[in-house]
Amino acid sequence: MMINENVTVERMVAGGDGLARLADGRVVFVNGAITGEQVAIEITTNKKDFARANIVEILSPSTHRVAPPCKFVAAGCGGCSWQHLDVSQHMATKVAIVSEALRRTAKISETEVTELVKVGGSVSAHASRTTLRMAVLPSGKLGFRRASSNEVVETSPCLVAHDLLNEIVATARVKNAVEVTLRCGASTGDRGVWLHDEHGRGQITGLQNGVGVGVEALVHETVNGVRLRVMMTSFFQSSLEAAEILVRAVRQAAGERALSGVDGQVIDAYGGVGLFAATLLSADVPVTVVESSESSCRDARVNLSQHIEQTQNTDSPSEIVQSNVEQWSPVPAGLVIADPARTGLGPQAVSRLAATNASRIVLVSCDAVAGARDLRLLIDAGYELEQTTVLDLFPYTPHIETVSSLQRKARATR
Ligand SMILES: C[S@@+](CC[C@H](N)C(=O)[O-])C[C@H]1O[C@@H](n2cnc3c(N)ncnc32)[C@H](O)[C@@H]1O
Repeated sequence: MMINENVTVERMVAGGDGLARLADGRVVFVNGAITGEQVAIEITTNKKDFARANIVEILSPSTHRVAPPCKFVAAGCGGCSWQHLDVSQHMATKVAIVSEALRRTAKISETEVTELVKVGGSVSAHASRTTLRMAVLPSGKLGFRRASSNEVVETSPCLVAHDLLNEIVATARVKNAVEVTLRCGASTGDRGVWLHDEHGRGQITGLQNGVGVGVEALVHETVNGVRLRVMMTSFFQSSLEAAEILVRAVRQAAGERALSGVDGQVIDAYGGVGLFAATLLSADVPVTVVESSESSCRDARVNLSQHIEQTQNTDSPSEIVQSNVEQWSPVPAGLVIADPARTGLGPQAVSRLAATNASRIVLVSCDAVAGARDLRLLIDAGYELEQTTVLDLFPYTPHIETVSSLQRKARATR
């Protein structure tokens, strides 16, 4: 049964939709709607407690509604779902979404939230992304999928892709693979492509000289003066600028004392290729990187070779542990930096990290609601939230990154 209604959007929520109320009182998430707009909607998902809808007509547009700056988004590309919202509003909207998650999910009072949430850095809106996962068109060209669809839209050049990647997108032709990861090092000019082809029959032609192909292709990026190796299958931040902003925010949240190692060793949990350990710690500070991916651990061993060498004959040698954090055996530490995937830490990982007895924890979250749930778990495990900084590292999208600093509460003495 198709239901059409006119609704007023109360606010924008995690994931990017506008939240409104239906006449029957249920919440409806309206795709592409902006706070304050009056819209005529068509329900696409109808559940007992909530609904989802598309806009049929904008009855009263927000003054912050703009024409998408990218012509491919206007033609249906689902890659950047916030191009209809003026860029000047992105940070304020993201701060509002994080604040709401802290109130609702972390159960932190309104007054405290106002004091705790800070505005952090933003990456420039254009041409910054150095890793892209793209889909293959029947013609062999690369593009992105339409929103909620498997249809691929041609997107050359992509507004947010680094020029080094747009060059590949313009000329590459792919056979026998449905998706391709492209990566470049903005500071080094290295480039690699990885075809996601289950049967190993994928082929790519039209590549520029020097572009590496396959899972073993290596791209290097220099962040804060530190050269990092990143294999195609390893995670890396979306751009050099994003990595630099994030490293700065983690430095500020951790504090120089904890990073110096005087309070104990550092745990870089969900450490990837060792971005934080390599850029924030001097080589004589013992660090344990805990990371589940085999290729990231291989990269981290190279990127942290000096740290491993300089601490090998000490009581606390630096090491790279390939493990899920949930299964890792905790060791005493002074500082934990935890940067989990979108699902967040969850109770098992929180109990492992809290068992280090670290006096400080820095939590990097790439999902506002999962991040707020993790903060509540950490607070219940004996930590006090000092600050949550909101970063805008994914321009034109509702993706939010936060960096939170927590201090272990002093135990009551008798
Ligand atoms: C958001 S990335 C952060 C990586 C790194 N901190 C950085 O900034 O480049 C999350 C990392 O956690 C790893 N990972 C995912 N689930 C994990 C788990 N349960 N335990 C340990 N590592 C995990 C992924 O392979 C990925 O490298």
